[in-house]
Amino acid sequence: MKTHEGLSGQVLMIIWGFAFSGANGQLLVSAPGDAQVDTLAGANLTLAVSFDGAPDPAVTWFKGRLPIVTWTVGSDAPPDVAEEYREVLRLEPNGSLSFVHVPLGYDGNYTVEMTKSGLGTGSLNFTLRVFELFENVTMMAFPDLIEEGSEQLQLRYHMLRGVVEQQRWFFNGRPVADGKGGSRYSLGPGTLAVREPRRNDTGRYTVSLSNPFSSVTLDLNITVLYGPDEPSIQISPIQDFYLPGDSLTLSCLADGAPQPLVRWTFDGETLSDNSMGVLNLTGVQTKQNGLYNCDLRNQRTGAQRHKTVALNVYEKPPGGPQCSVVSEDNRRLRYGCQWSGGTPPARLSFPDFGDDSSLESFTLSINVSSQLDGKIVTCQGQHPVENSKCDVTAESPQNFLPIVRTDVDAEGKIVVSISCLSRATPPATVSWFRGGEPVVDSDLISDDTARLDIRHRNVSVLLLQNYTCTCRNLLGGRTKHIRLQEPSISNFSLFSHKDGTIITLTWEVPPTSIVTGFDIQMSGPALVSADGNLSQSKGSADTFRTILPKAGSARSADIFHLDPKSTYRFRVLPRALMVEGQPTNARRIGPAEGLSGPAIAGIAAGIPCSLLFLLLVCGLIYLAIYWSRAKRQQTRYPVSRAAAEKVTTTQTQPPQNLLPRGVKSPPDYNRLRQTPSSLSVAPPTFVPPPPVRVATTV
Ligand SMILES: *[C@@H]1O[C@H](CO)[C@@H](O)[C@H](O)[C@H]1NC(C)=O
Ligand SMILES: *[C@@H]1O[C@H](CO)[C@@H](O)[C@H](O)[C@H]1NC(C)=O
Ligand SMILES: *[C@@H]1O[C@H](CO)[C@@H](O)[C@H](O)[C@H]1NC(C)=O
Ligand SMILES: *[C@@H]1O[C@H](CO)[C@@H](O)[C@H](O)[C@H]1NC(C)=O
Ligand SMILES: *[C@@H]1O[C@H](CO)[C@@H](O)[C@H](O)[C@H]1NC(C)=O
Ligand SMILES: *[C@@H]1O[C@H](CO)[C@@H](O)[C@H](O)[C@H]1NC(C)=O
Ligand SMILES: *[C@@H]1O[C@H](CO)[C@@H](O)[C@H](O)[C@H]1NC(C)=O
Ligand SMILES: *[C@@H]1O[C@H](CO)[C@@H](O)[C@H](O)[C@H]1NC(C)=O
Repeated sequence: MKTHEGLSGQVLMIIWGFAFSGANGQLLVSAPGDAQVDTLAGANLTLAVSFDGAPDPAVTWFKGRLPIVTWTVGSDAPPDVAEEYREVLRLEPNGSLSFVHVPLGYDGNYTVEMTKSGLGTGSLNFTLRVFELFENVTMMAFPDLIEEGSEQLQLRYHMLRGVVEQQRWFFNGRPVADGKGGSRYSLGPGTLAVREPRRNDTGRYTVSLSNPFSSVTLDLNITVLYGPDEPSIQISPIQDFYLPGDSLTLSCLADGAPQPLVRWTFDGETLSDNSMGVLNLTGVQTKQNGLYNCDLRNQRTGAQRHKTVALNVYEKPPGGPQCSVVSEDNRRLRYGCQWSGGTPPARLSFPDFGDDSSLESFTLSINVSSQLDGKIVTCQGQHPVENSKCDVTAESPQNFLPIVRTDVDAEGKIVVSISCLSRATPPATVSWFRGGEPVVDSDLISDDTARLDIRHRNVSVLLLQNYTCTCRNLLGGRTKHIRLQEPSISNFSLFSHKDGTIITLTWEVPPTSIVTGFDIQMSGPALVSADGNLSQSKGSADTFRTILPKAGSARSADIFHLDPKSTYRFRVLPRALMVEGQPTNARRIGPAEGLSGPAIAGIAAGIPCSLLFLLLVCGLIYLAIYWSRAKRQQTRYPVSRAAAEKVTTTQTQPPQNLLPRGVKSPPDYNRLRQTPSSLSVAPPTFVPPPPVRVATTV
């Protein structure tokens, strides 16, 4: 029981004033204790009053306005206590009201009124508050799942027992003011409500409860669930595209409470599923090109979000673009460009012909015009990894030389193949004419039309006709006339090696000449065979005999086992089967003679006389002129043959025409290759005296 003396003093004064003014001051009612009484339930207490100035007044106690006890002090009759208060209330003999084991329901305003007839009335007010100690106080939040944006969050405390005199709420230690106007807080009996909770309402809520006898403080940590927020996707390193084999990291991050789970999927397949949101891609391939999905989910609230990112893994198509040009409908040129494969496909265009473009393969048909002839057309291939291009040029048939090849087929017919190959784009087709008439027999013409094969046993028949080929494409044409020639040889040369025991003969054949083989012919002593014996020879030493036949494709021959001290003559006879052509002029090889003989004799007989010396000089000049003339006349066959006969008569050999066995020895090809240019000039292999050589080269 608590007493407040200051208050009781005031009450006393009021009662005094009241008593004097109302009833002449004869009945005085006063309270020695407090007018406001707090008590714990179950305790005993007394609302004490005392009176003065009149004996035995009538006493009435009111609870509120309801009289609950009446008595007259000093009376023998017991106090009249209202039925339902009898358990608790007792009236003391001096008029005070006692409570035995006061229960909770007895708090309220009590008033005592004393009356004495003739002496007036006095009264006093008491306020009784009955409290209990707090027991088993708990605090809870509603609803269970507090989400950002939901209607409200309510905190409610509950206790087994206890009367709250004062409740105070705190958020993170700061007092919460009751919601008026804009505040989102509202306090109710035992509750705190937060309207439309937000993420920053997450924190510690505290309620502090007190009454005069006890106090209690309760904490509750509240998390306002939210998210996933709008995710942000990051790729590291940042690049427009990646090349196969690159490594990169995708991360998908979003705020949320609790931290959202992040699932990466690609092409329906889950790649990672955790709260980190990091996806490592190492050694990417082009098949990993595409959209990556990031799905975020709040495990508590089930809220979801979704975001995608495009990953570009690019690979250049292999190689470079391939250009082509073909003819179309014989009226147009179709330029083509191809560059397939790659991720993404390359874009191809012909900038020369406009802006059109296409992926991987592009063709464009252009009407033929002379401007296209020789025009370099470029195809641009564009690919993010690398641009590339190719060129193609359409051109009319270029100048060319027909090629004539001669063969012998299995039936023994001569096959003459004429090829007309002209560089042209698109490739030219060749039309053939024989003596002005088109060749219609397609058997004779090769599939690509570039070759005409003519067959016959009789060379004369082959030589009878003139042939014409015309190479033509859309852009133009070119015509060549071919006149086949009888077997012939040009540029016959002789080279001597190895002290004159080996020689090499080389020759050429005019382009249109029909040749199926060559006879290497020799006049002079028999060749020494490998075992040292002289080979047998059919003819006489001064007539030409065939010592070595060569195939039509041969252009050189090696002759072995020559005797350096002997003189030989060689010539080559071209033939087309049995038909012989003109043999070449003979080439001589052997020790110097004729010219050098008289010269030496002159020098030997030389007398140191000026006359004779002059004569000798004159003789030398004469010989030089003679020799140069003879050399010039060698181009005519009969002359050189006569000369050959004259020279070779000195050495008569038994007739023999056996081929030297040494033919199979390997020729000196290096030597041959080193001297190709000498084929076109007269070969100076003849070991003539120096002045003569000057004369021949002039
Ligand atoms: C209160 O009063 C009752 C009856 O007079 C008595 O039995 C009890 O012991 C008292 N209790 C206390 C705490 O004084
Ligand atoms: C009245 O009586 C009660 C009990 O008999 C006592 O405790 C109280 O002090 C008395 N009051 C006065 C003012 O004497
Ligand atoms: C008791 O009286 C006071 C004024 O004296 C009043 O404010 C209060 O409401 C009253 N209590 C009851 C329970 O009637
Ligand atoms: C109240 O709390 C006490 C201890 O503080 C405990 O023993 C008792 O079981 C609790 N009662 C209930 C109903 O929770
Ligand atoms: C509430 O959170 C604070 C820190 O924010 C912590 O210290 C305290 O223990 C938590 N209380 C409960 C009941 O979880
Ligand atoms: C991804 O790579 C980083 C660094 O390269 C590493 O720290 C991280 O653990 C990797 N994550 C996974 C899921 O492999
Ligand atoms: C070859 O043909 C020519 C011309 O047609 C002819 O004169 C000659 O007799 C023929 N020769 C043979 C061997 O048939
Ligand atoms: C072939 O052409 C030449 C001139 O190029 C001509 O002299 C000859 O008569 C022609 N022969 C034939 C059979 O037309």
